[in-house]
Amino acid sequence: MSDRETSETASAVPQTLSRQLAAAGQTHVLASWDRLDAAGRARLLGQLSLIDWRQFSELQRLAAQTTAVLPPTIELTRAVTPPCLRLGAAENSIPPAVARARGEQALSTGAVGAILVAGGQGTRLGCTGPKGLYRVGPVSQASLFELLFGKLRAVRRRFGRDVPLAIMTSSATDAETRDFLREHPCLGLSPECVHVFRQHDLPAIDAASGRLLLDAPDHVAMAPDGHGGMLTALAETGGLDWFGRHGVEQIVSFQVDNPLAMPLDREFLGYHLLTAAEFSTQVVRKREPAERVGVVVENDGRHIVVEYSDLPGPLAAERLPDGRLRFHAGSIAVHAFTKSFLDRAAATADSLPLHLAHKSVAFLDDAGRLVTPRQPNAIKFERFIFDLMPLAARVCVVEIEPEQGFAPLKNPAGSASDAPEHVRAALVNHARRLLAQAGVSVAEGIDVELDAAGILDETDIHRVLSSGSRIEKPLVVGCDRQSPS
Ligand code: UD1
Repeated sequence: MSDRETSETASAVPQTLSRQLAAAGQTHVLASWDRLDAAGRARLLGQLSLIDWRQFSELQRLAAQTTAVLPPTIELTRAVTPPCLRLGAAENSIPPAVARARGEQALSTGAVGAILVAGGQGTRLGCTGPKGLYRVGPVSQASLFELLFGKLRAVRRRFGRDVPLAIMTSSATDAETRDFLREHPCLGLSPECVHVFRQHDLPAIDAASGRLLLDAPDHVAMAPDGHGGMLTALAETGGLDWFGRHGVEQIVSFQVDNPLAMPLDREFLGYHLLTAAEFSTQVVRKREPAERVGVVVENDGRHIVVEYSDLPGPLAAERLPDGRLRFHAGSIAVHAFTKSFLDRAAATADSLPLHLAHKSVAFLDDAGRLVTPRQPNAIKFERFIFDLMPLAARVCVVEIEPEQGFAPLKNPAGSASDAPEHVRAALVNHARRLLAQAGVSVAEGIDVELDAAGILDETDIHRVLSSGSRIEKPLVVGCDRQSPS
């Protein structure tokens, strides 16, 4: 339906749409049409026009399946944890210093771009707006966006080249993210090197009836289509060509919820390039079966990520004779791809499988009352970017220590793990460790933080604090010469 058709139809449902709704058995979504005002009608039509009606019967078919998720695409009983390179490990087949030099070369020629996925709804954390605005800097109170954008600024300062950044938003986060980046102009990145693009939504489907659910008279219950939606959305908004125009050959992707993420780590990039991988990924050692991380597994040379919710309990708990979990390569969702691989994948983006999740979704009952079910009543659909892994000609898996690059913010304060207080503590510990390596001591119980944009590594610390200095009060160690106490 064209924009013109939408705006002209505040009083009538376009015929094409009427036919599509009738064919799909979904005319109930128009139950309140006669009572809606013009704005409500436009809102509902706008949403319905974005539903891919050719795909809808496939969603219904999947929703009718008895399993909550699609079965993994490889035989898990025969799968193993693939061999991993370890960051900084002398025994790696490629020496860390060689990898690091190759990564530096890529950054200093401007060949690396980045995608930040920031479309999630932050439901578990209980935040209403974009998670990226959540303030988690232990001393600075900086937001996740500030901390993550800062890393790109630090790389630009060191290597003299911008890292073009594409940020994926969704219906849940788009407007506020764009407003924020307007009010704080691209958080110091060059505006021409920032591309904001929005992923699509997919409708939730009532598990019992296969029907669309309304959560307001003029609103269908829908949710972002998963970070795998980045491929279609990036291609549709010209993002892949945009990367190409900036000379980008390698693209890293990372999640907004991890302020310690190091997608531009030089050694990681070096391994990715020197192994000629099309898809590289960072993992941390998964220690307990209940940890909510996907695991990278391999079978007959094919790699996939099995999401934690898809890994059967007994397999998740299985241990090797040395005590490690059999599936211990915990995905932290920091990936690197060749751009040519993403170009190829984008041409067949619909082939990324749909994952199904049983969720509780509020809906209007037949009397028009809003019901918030306690039990899951609906099926939501998502695509995951890591499902590209088995399509890559070569995959490189790099293990890092969680203290170096993994402090995810998932849960509200007071939770047992991944809560704001854990993330802040991880940022303080990270700063303390790097400061100690640079010969700077920190008084007991004092919070310190590294300014993301100012400190890339130990060398930057020495620009602002000399070895042997001691920090006695809370401090953001940044780019200017500082007084530690
Ligand atoms: C995710 C990974 C999991 C990994 C863990 C590490 C998935 C499906 N699972 O789990 O394998 O071990 O992180 O922390 O990714 N997002 C979008 N659009 C969407 C949905 C999500 O941009 O439609 C973004 C979110 O903003 C977030 C990220 O993707 O940055 C992860 O999403 P989330 O649903 O929180 O995944 P987890 O269950 O935490």
